[in-house]
Amino acid sequence: MPKSVLVLYMSRGGHTARIARRVCESIVTAGGRADMMSLLEADKEGVDWSRYDIVALGAPVLYGTYDRSVFDFVTRYRSPLETKPNSFFNVSVVARTPQKATVEGNRYMQKFLQLSPWRPRHLKVVAGKVDYPSWPWHEQLMIQMIMKFTHGPTDRTAIIDYTDWDDVAAYGRELLGLWSGVPVCMPTTPGPRQTKQPSGTISST
Ligand SMILES: Cc1cc2nc3c(=O)[nH]c(=O)nc-3n(C[C@H](O)[C@H](O)[C@H](O)COP(=O)(O)O)c2cc1C
Repeated sequence: MPKSVLVLYMSRGGHTARIARRVCESIVTAGGRADMMSLLEADKEGVDWSRYDIVALGAPVLYGTYDRSVFDFVTRYRSPLETKPNSFFNVSVVARTPQKATVEGNRYMQKFLQLSPWRPRHLKVVAGKVDYPSWPWHEQLMIQMIMKFTHGPTDRTAIIDYTDWDDVAAYGRELLGLWSGVPVCMPTTPGPRQTKQPSGTISST
């Protein structure tokens, strides 16, 4: 029986949605089944969690954090998220550098882990897209400041896709590998201290 993956996402400008689509395509190519749903749709229309073996959820970093809807969603649906193999991926421009493209080196991933009641079993950092022309002028200014601090592009005509699409496809295949047939039991808050393995898998100590 092919394994079925639900890829949930929040996307402000459409790039995380594209990443979610690529993840789904890769899962299907690898012989699995995949659906994608925005958090808004999942919340409004409801999710038949029983249809899925594995769940992934992705969100972009916006102004150093995540949209409130992301925290609202993971708080409300923590239980169904944690009852199956699950993964969280974040999308940010700082992840364009090799050091910040790792779970350990990406402070926005650490921030998510601090603020989220959901304890994802597996983590993935994805580099996002700079698209100044699509952003309103006041956001261009704010992002320009962020980019100055993080030595990123400040040219307000710049459109740069930093996403490694082959790596995104590999993440899709990695998700299928999360299935072990054993239900995932996660600690309730406050849980034991977590350590993150290089692969992005979390183990409890
Ligand atoms: C309003 C706004 C704020 C952002 N803030 C950050 C930030 O603090 N750090 C960062 O690395 N990237 C930041 N980015 C870049 C986004 O994470 C990146 O463009 C991502 O690909 C957006 O995904 P989306 O199109 O799905 O919304 C920001 C982008 C926007 C539009």
